[in-house]
Amino acid sequence: MAGSDLIRPPGSAEDWTVPQDWASYTPDEHAMWDTLFARQAEMLPSRVVPAFMDGLDILRMSRPGIPDFDELSDRLMKATGWQVVAVPGLVPDEVFFDHLANRRFVAGRFIRTPEQIDYLQEPDIFHDVFGHVPLLAHPVFADYMQAYGEGGLRAAKLGMIKQLARLYWYTVEFGLIRDGDALKLYGAGIVSSFGESRFALDDPSPNRIGFDLQRVMRTDYRIDDYQQTYFVIDSFEDLLRQTLETDFAPIYASLADATDLKTDDVLADDVVFTHGTQAYAHSRLESAA
Ligand SMILES: [Fe+2]
Repeated sequence: MAGSDLIRPPGSAEDWTVPQDWASYTPDEHAMWDTLFARQAEMLPSRVVPAFMDGLDILRMSRPGIPDFDELSDRLMKATGWQVVAVPGLVPDEVFFDHLANRRFVAGRFIRTPEQIDYLQEPDIFHDVFGHVPLLAHPVFADYMQAYGEGGLRAAKLGMIKQLARLYWYTVEFGLIRDGDALKLYGAGIVSSFGESRFALDDPSPNRIGFDLQRVMRTDYRIDDYQQTYFVIDSFEDLLRQTLETDFAPIYASLADATDLKTDDVLADDVVFTHGTQAYAHSRLESAA
């Protein structure tokens, strides 16, 4: 995860990484990983893109306990040339992009407490590693993540990080993918969440709209609750191809003058899989009022 105006914590390296210090995890922390893992592993097989389950196998992630990043990186390096490195928390955008561009995924070290089992504000190791790392063993998705990092470094120079961050959000974090006539999950924010793994596919509330690069980069997103819109890609190959073949500079130029789209907008030329009722989002607004 990336942010701005951050100060590098003492003890971290120039590139903001720190040792994972795997030996310091307590039995309770390993048990929390196992609880979260068992819950998702039971629910996901029929819901998630098959490449995710393949990644869990390739990386031997079903072994009990919090994964050791060195072992995980050895397996990942053999599969796709990626590594997992630990960081103490949020890192600056350009540090984050530079790691991705060099096929390094930055992950938090801490794990949520039992009180935070269903909601926490900052991503923990379960989100970062269970959610993100299995798909890094898929060669095409792995290339997409690198391409995103390279695009991020260019966007930073053009002052367009906000727009590019929406691409990450609506694909890497909250993306859906077509599987024949069905939809499947692949975004890490969904697959690491017990509630959103069901909501994103089954609930009539959110919109599910065909992926369009420029449309996505105009669309605001929710950071405080389930998404009001999910975007559906055809395949990882198509997502990578669009990202590599698109010249982002003219898109950024047109986006600079365009109004942002709201989190629940549906446009006349959207490819609509579900026009959501937004009943969930409205009920949350009412209960907060
Ligand atoms: Fe994430």
